[in-house]
Amino acid sequence: MPGSNFLPDVQQVAQAFSQAAATYDQVAGLQRIVADQLLKKGADFHLGKVLDIGSGTGYVSAQLADVAEVTAVTGLDIAEGMLNYAKSHHLNSKLNWHLGDAQQLPLTLLSNAKSYDLIISSLAIQWCKNLDAVFSGVAHYLTEGGVFHGAILGPQTLHQLKWAWSQVDNYQHVNEFVALDTLKNTLTNHFVEVEIVCELIELKYPSVPQLTKDLKQLGASNRNVHAAQGLMGVGRLRKMVQVYESLRDDQGQLPVTYEVYYITAKTNASITTDGT
Ligand SMILES: C[S@@+](CC[C@H](N)C(=O)[O-])C[C@H]1O[C@@H](n2cnc3c(N)ncnc32)[C@H](O)[C@@H]1O
Repeated sequence: MPGSNFLPDVQQVAQAFSQAAATYDQVAGLQRIVADQLLKKGADFHLGKVLDIGSGTGYVSAQLADVAEVTAVTGLDIAEGMLNYAKSHHLNSKLNWHLGDAQQLPLTLLSNAKSYDLIISSLAIQWCKNLDAVFSGVAHYLTEGGVFHGAILGPQTLHQLKWAWSQVDNYQHVNEFVALDTLKNTLTNHFVEVEIVCELIELKYPSVPQLTKDLKQLGASNRNVHAAQGLMGVGRLRKMVQVYESLRDDQGQLPVTYEVYYITAKTNASITTDGT
């Protein structure tokens, strides 16, 4: 998968998110917008047993546990710090938490196939090098009639930051996210019905240091293997900030774009004869 080999290792992702757990909710503006959209778009799917992949601080899992038609929610995450935070902040008895890698669902869940009516994931699987393994596991665990509903970042994410760095050097300072065609092809290996809705979300920031601080606190700062040591030297950073400053708008704000793909996918078994 183009770009995926350059993603950080799973242990680095786990460590970054564990370290970010305590501050994550204060700076998760984009994540809240996307999670709320995902929950709103998929309200019809909120029933039965649910698996939330990359549950983080538990925001999505907790909201689903409050839905009367939902019987149980498993929040799965690779970062122990995130799971500990979620456990101590959400006390609904329908919730349970599981440490594990989304790329190894059968090894990690050790439960029967076809056991989840809804598998949801908000802004987590873009960290996975092996999306094929993620979707294979998801298809394996969906019940007949079950739905996968997820949100994942696309390659236009942080394009202003990428551009500003490109004016300074040729290194990769911003994580590469999966292209639409690749995502679609990987999904169609495992699902019969696939719908992807693309959305660009533009946030405003008062300064570049505020943006990079938020990315770090979110656990989303670049740990790309091509981001060689020492690339963030003060001189280069100052130059990049100067370039980014040229994008400041009339209100004195800096634009930050996120590209989000909202996915709805059904296995063969989940599609009824009338095609719904
Ligand atoms: C940006 S946070 C989103 C958290 C939550 N879904 C939300 O919307 O607030 C991404 C989460 O995905 C988790 N994650 C990343 N890679 C993972 C993997 N391979 N398996 C399971 N969880 C993973 C991270 O540890 C982190 O908690």
